[in-house]
Amino acid sequence: MTLTVQHNVSLQPFNTLRVEAKAREWVEVRSQEDCAQLPALCRDKKILILGGGSNLVLAGDVNGLVIHNQLRGIECVRQDEQHVWVQVAGGENWDAFVAHAVAQGWHGLENLSAIPGSVGAAPVQNIGAYGVELKDVLESVTVLHLQDGRTQILTRAECRFAYRDSIFKSAFKTNYLITHVTLRLQRQPTMKLEYGEIRSALQSAGLDEATLTPQQLRELIMDIRARKLPDPAVQPNVGSFFKNPVIPHEQLMRLQQRWPELVSYPVDADHVKIAAGWLLDRLGWKGRQWGRAKVHDRQALVLVNSGDNARDLLALKDAMQADVREKTGIELEVEPLIVGGHE
Ligand code: EPU
Repeated sequence: MTLTVQHNVSLQPFNTLRVEAKAREWVEVRSQEDCAQLPALCRDKKILILGGGSNLVLAGDVNGLVIHNQLRGIECVRQDEQHVWVQVAGGENWDAFVAHAVAQGWHGLENLSAIPGSVGAAPVQNIGAYGVELKDVLESVTVLHLQDGRTQILTRAECRFAYRDSIFKSAFKTNYLITHVTLRLQRQPTMKLEYGEIRSALQSAGLDEATLTPQQLRELIMDIRARKLPDPAVQPNVGSFFKNPVIPHEQLMRLQQRWPELVSYPVDADHVKIAAGWLLDRLGWKGRQWGRAKVHDRQALVLVNSGDNARDLLALKDAMQADVREKTGIELEVEPLIVGGHE
């Protein structure tokens, strides 16, 4: 079947901020056969790959070709006594896959439960939560070069993962479609319970660490997230709007003179990561309304949109960045991808 390009397609159903913007051209990719036709369609075009649209801010219409990755499939490609290697197509829903993995007895993803979005988007920002990052379990990423149709497999090292970062945000940012992600999962669970809130949540739920099952850990993480983070289906959002800044140790010491309880996590010998949500909260941003945008009531790192465009949301983001810059000298980096309009 020939791939059909549609014109002026509304992107509102495909972004979790529910922004109304149009894609000048739009194509859905469902099979390897579809992939083979992409290079001919992509030649000399500006491309945007769309997964779950849960880390995307549409500042206006997208004047290029939007490729909606709908590739499906989960396949166990290899196993030994300790591990199972699972290849997952980029269009699969991330959390549906995590649920499937836990049910199959494939472990290591429990702490990454309930993250919105698609499997193909997961390596782009190296999704992470509750002490686990995708890079901890990732074996390789398969990409299709959209200009010449070549397939390439990138190892974990080649993906250059870092905190909320990868090669897919720099050298491999445009003109590549992530078709598959291969993960190396464990056959015996080893629970990661070190992140701040997990142990206290275990206690409150009356769960015993010694007998905790992977399914119980998944449910616990889902409960923690549901308590703190707004459900995008009810309150349109893209999760954390800013990255947690990584700063030199001396700067932390200076900030701690003003805020002794500032929350920080070690990164390396000279740097720490500080909780931007904590800082924004102390600066009074939590719950603030800004036109049709708002800072979430329970997590100052999350912005909620109630309009059908992102104007107020982006103005709110600017005001928050300016305030943090002025009060601390720190430049908050935006976490989601901002596209469209006159960029
Ligand atoms: N805090 C406040 N007030 C706030 C927000 C946070 O005091 O308004 C405090 C918390 O009490 C805690 C600390 O700041 O002591 C850190 O907060 P939290 O554990 O909620 O984590 P975070 O640093 O705000 C990061 C990720 C989240 C991820 C959580 C859990 C980033 C940018 N965000 O948030 O990821 O779920 O840790 O691991 O790294 C996302 O990327 O979209 C996302 C939601």
